[in-house]
Amino acid sequence: MERACAEPELRPPPFALRPLSAALGAEIIGVDLSAEIDDYTFAQIRDAWHQNLVILLRDQELSEEDQVRFAEKFGPPAVIHTKQFVRNHPAVMLISNIREDGKLIGALPDGEMHFHTDQCHQQRPAMASMLYALEVPSTGGNTLFANGYAAYATLPDGMKRRIEGRKALNAYDYDSAAMKRGTRLAEGVPSYVHPVVRTHPATGRKALYVNRLMTVRIEGLPEPESNELLATLFDHQERREFVYEHVWRPGDLLMWDNRCTLHARTDFSPNERRLMRRVTILGEKPV
Ligand code: SIN
Repeated sequence: MERACAEPELRPPPFALRPLSAALGAEIIGVDLSAEIDDYTFAQIRDAWHQNLVILLRDQELSEEDQVRFAEKFGPPAVIHTKQFVRNHPAVMLISNIREDGKLIGALPDGEMHFHTDQCHQQRPAMASMLYALEVPSTGGNTLFANGYAAYATLPDGMKRRIEGRKALNAYDYDSAAMKRGTRLAEGVPSYVHPVVRTHPATGRKALYVNRLMTVRIEGLPEPESNELLATLFDHQERREFVYEHVWRPGDLLMWDNRCTLHARTDFSPNERRLMRRVTILGEKPV
């Protein structure tokens, strides 16, 4: 069932919203991102994103410039370090398993990925990530999104007290093997310590901010206790009732909020092509 978006003024709603799941997410219906959008429409889109954590706009025909123009309305794009996966616009990186002349054209090429949040190994992780689907496999390669607010809110009180004020080390310690959880830090691996629970600057809500792929340890705890606590938190935050599974169609533009969601990917055949364009938007230091 569709519901109209919130309408504070006497203007017709600029689009309709359709919930994607009980966990999170909404489809925005009636906006063409290849054209300029006015400030009022953008403010409504941003509100919908804050309320729903993930927004989806289907059947979009977007150039790289169109995608970046929309992304820049939320803030400056994050710098891309893997320059070999940039084709044209410096803010756009390809995510793909396609090889040309034996070389991969995109990052994160193969199959399944553990839950994570983008750039949590940096001082200022990505606020948002935006994927635009160009080619998708016939089955699999779905992206899973978990609601970090719900994960925090449903923790038992004793667990909330155990993690209150704690910080955790997050590291970028994987390449294409995004199912390999790092537990020890190799020399030179980029890493950063962030709060285990962060407060979203726009909504004021608390979200659990650890993840199976990149969170290495909770600071100040003996290693066995840190491992046990993290395993419990990972299992909790990945519970199915907190998760929306997105089945991609070419033309989908989907944007998620890394400050209150985690994402993962399901497996897909290496014999089928998958091609996405990604833009990430620089965020603030988590508090
Ligand atoms: C990502 O983790 O940014 C990529 C997710 C995907 O390929 O579905």
